Amino acid sequence: MNTPLIEAKSLTVRYHYKPVLWNIDCSLSAGRMIGIIGPNGSGKTTFLKTLMGLLKPDSGSVRLFGKEPKQVLERLSYVPQRESVDWDFPARVQDVVLMGRYRRSNLLGRLSKEDRRLADEAMDEVGLTEFAKRQIGELSGGQQQRVFLARAIARQPELFLMDEPFAGVDAATEDAILRLLARLRDKGRSVVIVHHDLQTAQRFFDELVLLRTRLIASGPTEQVLTPDHLDEAYGGRLSVLSRMGDLLQKSQLDWKERGINDSDHER
Ligand SMILES: Nc1ncnc2c1ncn2[C@@H]1O[C@H](COP(=O)(O)OP(=O)(O)OP(=O)(O)O)[C@@H](O)[C@H]1O
Ligand SMILES: [Mg+2]
Repeated sequence: MNTPLIEAKSLTVRYHYKPVLWNIDCSLSAGRMIGIIGPNGSGKTTFLKTLMGLLKPDSGSVRLFGKEPKQVLERLSYVPQRESVDWDFPARVQDVVLMGRYRRSNLLGRLSKEDRRLADEAMDEVGLTEFAKRQIGELSGGQQQRVFLARAIARQPELFLMDEPFAGVDAATEDAILRLLARLRDKGRSVVIVHHDLQTAQRFFDELVLLRTRLIASGPTEQVLTPDHLDEAYGGRLSVLSRMGDLLQKSQLDWKERGINDSDHER
């Protein structure tokens, strides 16, 4: 059998003794688009950070490509939830994207023509070409987020780990980038994205991991997005359920039977 891309065994992670991931077992294969979903505070970012080796499990284990996370960092691109760097210092968009081309083994090395071509291509893919020479601090929030996406793409990783990468990015750009990631998936790359929108999740993701401290479900998208799982994860919060309207219609699921009134909106 092939080594799983990601394997968590009895994974528990705590902050100040309080478990935020509890006894998670899951195994995910390479060459898929995988969505990590669940309500705020359900442990999605913690899960990604543990996969990256940024947080240590309190018990249990995670393996990436069958190895300790720290041993395989060169093979992945991580896009953290909202970049926390202060971009007040002078850095042009193209320089930040080119950072994706540096390797630990070649930190002071010169960038090749190929590196520059890949960076240009990535800027083009996210619609940033015209901003290439602008200071990143002068860009809007959504444009900055696109810079980090371009940097991740330019790196050409085997695995993308992205934490809400489309926050603040307009729908057309999000769609274009998801299509690009799907093409990379078709070439065998793996994409793991923390994502809130269940409709785009249904359209683009092959598999989902649904968390709420515990693992509620993981597997093929249509097997995870069931009323029972969503109810368990979101506790019947109506905003989510009403956003699921289209999806539910498509899936021929009848919420009325379950006594849910979709005229209420939480936010
Ligand atoms: N550094 C920290 N110290 C203490 N508690 C933390 C820390 N980071 C996160 N937590 C807590 O752990 C829980 C899970 O947080 P996490 O960031 O993984 O959630 P999330 O699913 O990514 O949420 P969101 O959708 O809001 O991004 C939350 O209750 C959060 O308050
Ligand atoms: Mg998060």
